[in-house]
Amino acid sequence: MTLPTRSRILGLGATVPEQKLTNDDLAKMVDTNDEWIVTRTGIRERRIMREDEKLSVMTADACRKAVANSGLTIDDIDVLIVCTYTPERLCPSAACETQGELGMGTKPAFDINAACSGFMYGLQVADSMVRAGVYRHVLVVGAEAQSRYVDYTDRGTCILFGDGAGAVVVGPSDDGTETGVLSILLGADARGNELITIRNACPGLGEKSPYKDTPPYIAMNGREVYKFAVRAVGEVLDNVLAQAGLTRDEVDLLIPHQANIRIIEAAAERLGLEKDRVVVNIERYGNTAAASIPLTLEEAATTGRLKSGMLAALVGFGGGFTYGACLIRW
Ligand SMILES: CC(C)(COP(=O)(O)OP(=O)(O)OC[C@H]1O[C@@H](n2cnc3c(N)ncnc32)[C@H](O)[C@@H]1OP(=O)(O)O)[C@@H](O)C(=O)NCCC(=O)NCCS
Repeated sequence: MTLPTRSRILGLGATVPEQKLTNDDLAKMVDTNDEWIVTRTGIRERRIMREDEKLSVMTADACRKAVANSGLTIDDIDVLIVCTYTPERLCPSAACETQGELGMGTKPAFDINAACSGFMYGLQVADSMVRAGVYRHVLVVGAEAQSRYVDYTDRGTCILFGDGAGAVVVGPSDDGTETGVLSILLGADARGNELITIRNACPGLGEKSPYKDTPPYIAMNGREVYKFAVRAVGEVLDNVLAQAGLTRDEVDLLIPHQANIRIIEAAAERLGLEKDRVVVNIERYGNTAAASIPLTLEEAATTGRLKSGMLAALVGFGGGFTYGACLIRW
């Protein structure tokens, strides 16, 4: 058997909840205002799951769209990877619940938790599986139900996060062209362990929790995350370009994790990219963590901004501290 030299994205799909949470809505809940949030983050509204909505249903919906977009059927998919740090249950995994929704029989399914970098981690696993010939078609989906974990009394975090799911089908790039994943680089830095945490998720397990009677909630040191992110994004972009033997000026489109408009602008500046070569949708969705890059990628592809032959740079970072970048010839 000849192994594929490269994997590529065969299809994309995205789903966000219908319910919107605007900056004005948040201003009724905590001491904040639209102008502060827009200036500091670029966010105007986010999508939030209703109580009766399920992460696995939203995730499966994005998956079905990606599979349809690839021209394949669910039966053609060999394995499902769900990238999430906000599963509705620790066991079973979000992937096993989504696998059931999709009717994938007994095909393997597992979660990856690398917080907001989850999709980059999932993509590298999928790329490796395809190139090694382990599986032909890998369904990778970044999906988050962050609203289940957000503390809506904490104005430092509740303004940022939203829910959503973005999926891709990864398969061999055997069409004889140069398209596909050129290079992926990941990193993790334990010095950032305490910068973004979910507190009280495992009461009694490893965490002597003073919050015993409160539900799990996201806690963050925003200022330090910001500094960490700007540094990590710049470094990983330079390193992934070096790994691929490419230079900054060869990048046509930047598809960054949508965490904060100011971090995105710093990354674009580093690459010397004008605004029109950076895909931004943070104003509508906020930070959807592992869903953010595939949601943005899907939007870039379906709106025609990402065109055949372009070099796209994907970059993500988040809790852990984790980070990753990927170069794709579209
Ligand atoms: C969270 C973030 C927007 C806060 O912006 P900031 O400029 O760092 O603001 P600070 O936390 O230093 O707070 C500045 C002031 O604004 C106040 N403030 C914080 N949140 C506020 C809000 N939602 N509305 C109004 N005021 C707010 C603070 O209390 C502080 O007031 P003080 O000076 O009187 O003490 C910013 O740090 C950030 O985006 N960090 C990165 C977070 C991120 O990307 N996380 C996900 C990574 S995947």
